[in-house]
Amino acid sequence: MEIKSAGIVGLGSYLPKRILTNGDLEKMVETNDEWIKTRTGISERRIAAEDETTSDLAFHAAEAALEDAGISAEELDLIIVASASPDMLFPATACILQEKLGIRGIPSFDLEAACAGFIYGLAVGAQFIATGLAKNVLVVGAETLSRIINWEDRNTCVLFGDGAGAAVLQPVERGQGILSIHLGADGAGEDLLKVPAGGASLPASIDTVQQGLHYMHMQGSEVFKFAVRVMGEAAEQGLIKAGLSKEDVTLVVPHQANMRIVSAAMRRLHLPMEKAYLNLDRYGNMSSASVPVALDEAYREKRIKHGDVIVMVGFGAGLTWGSIVMKWCKQ
Ligand code: UT7
Repeated sequence: MEIKSAGIVGLGSYLPKRILTNGDLEKMVETNDEWIKTRTGISERRIAAEDETTSDLAFHAAEAALEDAGISAEELDLIIVASASPDMLFPATACILQEKLGIRGIPSFDLEAACAGFIYGLAVGAQFIATGLAKNVLVVGAETLSRIINWEDRNTCVLFGDGAGAAVLQPVERGQGILSIHLGADGAGEDLLKVPAGGASLPASIDTVQQGLHYMHMQGSEVFKFAVRVMGEAAEQGLIKAGLSKEDVTLVVPHQANMRIVSAAMRRLHLPMEKAYLNLDRYGNMSSASVPVALDEAYREKRIKHGDVIVMVGFGAGLTWGSIVMKWCKQ
């Protein structure tokens, strides 16, 4: 069997219109613009409208990516949606998205790897292309984290935002597209970042709601320590697997959790901050949507051109991490 390379041939993103600034948050919890900016780098984030769901955000991003790829939804062979805030426990948001795209029949499933979800999604999509099972794969990272955040908890509510990014994968020439995939997880850290209630281990009840267990809970400084270590390490491993060195890297597109985490990763890679694409000041941490939205913006701003080497790297709840090194093959 011929193993085929997979490359990104279409990109799209969607950000809800409503902007929530650090100033707005000052009126909601005991925080201030200076603390948020210096500790995280975030100035504002987007919040989905009341009638907007994760699948709606995913739909807009998917439409843009399909248009960019120059294909119709009918030509898709597979849909993968990465999300930590899916529309429902089930059915999969990918199936709801399929319906919104007006198509039928193709396999569609969700993938849960939290903030590393889009990178995991690309990795899975690439396997379908490698084996010839699919020719056009839609991978989406979409979140309405505003629905699972406790807006009274300053430890978390200042960090996150809503948004979606999508990519279309197709078979490309050998040596182009995805050059390496590096994924990992450590379940020993399962407690550090989670939504405790609403699943099968702690079903939703009046009690769980009263205790706020249906919201995101995070041990921020522990996650921070893990992230500082793993982001640089994962990017480095990706480059080693691709047979490349830091000199070959045009742009790092990191998960946009915290400016200090990104700078630690760049220090570890011995690369200047100018080589990292950052938009977390405008959107905060959008979990699985962070990397595809950043990639889409970097591409549209012409920070990426044909032949460039891109390193996507992320980490998240689980704990999970991953990196993908790509030779950019899209014109
Ligand atoms: O995608 C993965 C998702 N998670 C993450 O990426 C989170 C990773 N962690 C982080 O980014 C950082 O740990 C935070 C930004 C969450 C926190 O920064 P930190 O430098 O680790 O601060 P800290 O948690 O050690 O808290 C320092 C102080 C505490 O006060 P005391 O105990 O020193 O008096 C906090 O209560 O800052 C306080 N604090 C705040 N103050 C103002 C915590 N949140 C806030 C806030 N505004 N929003």
